[in-house]
Amino acid sequence: MEQLKLLISRDQIATRVAEMGKQITTDSKGEPVVFVGVLKGAAMFLSDLVRRVEVNASFDFISVTSYGNPAGAKQEKTWASTGEVRLTKDVEQSLRGKNVILVEDILDTGLTLAFLKRLLLGPQPKSFRVAVLLDKVARRKLAVEADYIGFTITDEFVVGYGMDYAEQYRNLPDIRVLPGVSA
Ligand code: IMP
Ligand code: MG
Repeated sequence: MEQLKLLISRDQIATRVAEMGKQITTDSKGEPVVFVGVLKGAAMFLSDLVRRVEVNASFDFISVTSYGNPAGAKQEKTWASTGEVRLTKDVEQSLRGKNVILVEDILDTGLTLAFLKRLLLGPQPKSFRVAVLLDKVARRKLAVEADYIGFTITDEFVVGYGMDYAEQYRNLPDIRVLPGVSA
């Protein structure tokens, strides 16, 4: 695993996540925030981020899948967005009137984020922001953007720090490039 090309080290991640936490603290102006993490890729990012935010925070998780990507499908298909996103686990608390920050690992085509944004705005939160660790700007298909971005990266398939390839590599502490995987 160490032979996979290093893209972003654990130290770089920690530094950037601390900066993002500070920014969120400032922007939140002392109001409580509900962090909603997208399983499973954003689990580690959320757990690090919430410890860097000095506001009254609670968190919840949501899970989505793309149509046409059944378990055991060809590996490339396990991540490539098909354009149809389905909710597999909803949040467990009402978001009405809350300050919500959606926490996602990667903003890629934007299809997942567009779907989640529409879903989470439904119950009318007081405010809605998006924090992503990685942004693959060049691959965007829909005009959706994040409010907080850890790193902008080029079109390479990455794993580690929660992100997977066919459920593997999530526990790598650094973010690495998996060669030969394309959309
Ligand atoms: P989007 O709907 O195309 O924006 O897809 C975003 C989702 O695809 C992310 O939340 C990831 O789960 C997954 N994804 C996109 N690029 C990568 C990658 O390089 N490595 C691992 N997962 C990825
Ligand atoms: Mg994801």
